Amino acid sequence: MLLETKNVSKSFGGIYALRDICFSLREGEVHGLVGENGAGKSTLIKLLTGVYQMEEGSISFGGSPYLPRTPAAARRAGISVIHQDRTLVPTFTAVENAYLGLPYPRKGAFVDWKSMEKKVQAVSQDAGIELDLHMTAARMSPPQRTCLEIVRALMHDCRLLILDEPTASLTERESETLFEIIGRLKSRGTAILYVSHRLDEIFRLTDRVTVLKNGTLVKTLETASATREDLIRLMADHYTAGGLARAKNTGDELLSCSHLKSRDGTVLDASLSLHAGEILGIFGLGGSGRTELLETLYGLRSADGGEIRLMGEVQPRLSPARSLSRGMALISEDRRGKGMIGNLSVRENVSLSALQDVSRRGIVRKKQETQAVHSMTERLQVRMAGQEQRVLELSGGNQQKVVFARTLLTRPRIFLCDEPTQAVDVMTRSEIHRLLRAEADRGCGVLFVSSDLKEVLEVADRVQIMASGRTWEVLENQDLTTRQVLDLCYREARAKVKSANS
Ligand SMILES: Nc1ncnc2c1ncn2[C@@H]1O[C@H](COP(=O)(O)OP(=O)(O)OP(=O)(O)O)[C@@H](O)[C@H]1O
Ligand SMILES: [Mg+2]
Repeated sequence: MLLETKNVSKSFGGIYALRDICFSLREGEVHGLVGENGAGKSTLIKLLTGVYQMEEGSISFGGSPYLPRTPAAARRAGISVIHQDRTLVPTFTAVENAYLGLPYPRKGAFVDWKSMEKKVQAVSQDAGIELDLHMTAARMSPPQRTCLEIVRALMHDCRLLILDEPTASLTERESETLFEIIGRLKSRGTAILYVSHRLDEIFRLTDRVTVLKNGTLVKTLETASATREDLIRLMADHYTAGGLARAKNTGDELLSCSHLKSRDGTVLDASLSLHAGEILGIFGLGGSGRTELLETLYGLRSADGGEIRLMGEVQPRLSPARSLSRGMALISEDRRGKGMIGNLSVRENVSLSALQDVSRRGIVRKKQETQAVHSMTERLQVRMAGQEQRVLELSGGNQQKVVFARTLLTRPRIFLCDEPTQAVDVMTRSEIHRLLRAEADRGCGVLFVSSDLKEVLEVADRVQIMASGRTWEVLENQDLTTRQVLDLCYREARAKVKSANS
């Protein structure tokens, strides 16, 4: 065994986040870690990497007792991690980010940039990762950032690499690249602990898988002898799968755009039309401009040409405040940046933009507020100590649910959803799908963006293809396969390159 924990526990404010965990990880294996939102996965990882200190129990690593006091100590001992909430410094270049927390090499009185570059180059090449060493993290795409985090994790000799939901905003092809890197690390003898809500990945990558539930370890299984149903049964008490119904009927056009262009050049030429009663999926590979299109429609990004119509009316200019007042809501992929205020309580976050409904003459009616928030958090099964808990303290998936709950409370007519189920567990994910379908059935329109194509095909009535900042075909989602959609995406992306070259 490479790593063993014995009766490890950790609590927050008197509530156990982990209790009596006896977990073991073999030398060189890829080990999956699954469980509902709030089950304790990230907490376990933070104990193993010196972010938190355990209160009871003991850990051994490589045969000797192991008690990391800081993340740096864990790295020195040979355990590196890529946390669920990424930690790159946006204004730093790849090289500077790779050296975060490490001493800069010096040449006399000066920082030896040349040797830093060489080292980062060597580490990334060794792992088969292509990096632009001088690009700042802010300018990188999500997969580039993930790759940079991996390089940073490998700057030390690493015997165990821990990945907490590494594919959360990656599309299939980008995830493939990541899986190749994982394969290469494994063949070099690095053990990997892998957290994901995407069970397909667990089955594809792992040798064994451990299920956590309510802070306890339920079971560790050999992946080859487990099924998807087994895992879900062990993770959750009740779960009803079942396909999602399609649109009953569609009504008037709620939102449309034609030849929309964003000022920053991320959206080049987008046209689409969303009707009452439908869920319109938008799918494209990474860098296709899906997120940027939603943000331009919402007014977060300035448009520069083209036309947006809301309920048939041409909008001269949109801003988030205007969009909100016209019944449009954006559920953003970047919950930390745009979706929530970590320091405020769950109650405050959920009722933030719905304050009009629960206040009279500017005074918030506390009881009504509490009730409204309660009904939402119940429905989405937000796991928290209470409404007064700070959102920062919730698990990643539960934070995402808070963002979603808040949006529902504002009763929008048009939903712009950008990865609304990112980081959310399998069980709540279907609940969110059902909620969106119910909203569509009562006359709302939903634009649904996800990097997970299977998810798009599960929920959408029609699928709009995007590539290279442009919209292409719209497909009726009847017997549509992932293959067909991907083929179109690749073809359009290729066509773009060809026309640019000629
Ligand atoms: N700093 C903290 N303060 C208070 N409670 C915390 C803190 N960190 C975690 N918790 C609580 O510990 C529990 C486990 O959280 P953890 O983040 O480990 O869940 P998780 O399994 O990673 O979930 P997810 O799939 O949503 O990421 C949750 O109930 C969470 O609210
Ligand atoms: Mg987590």
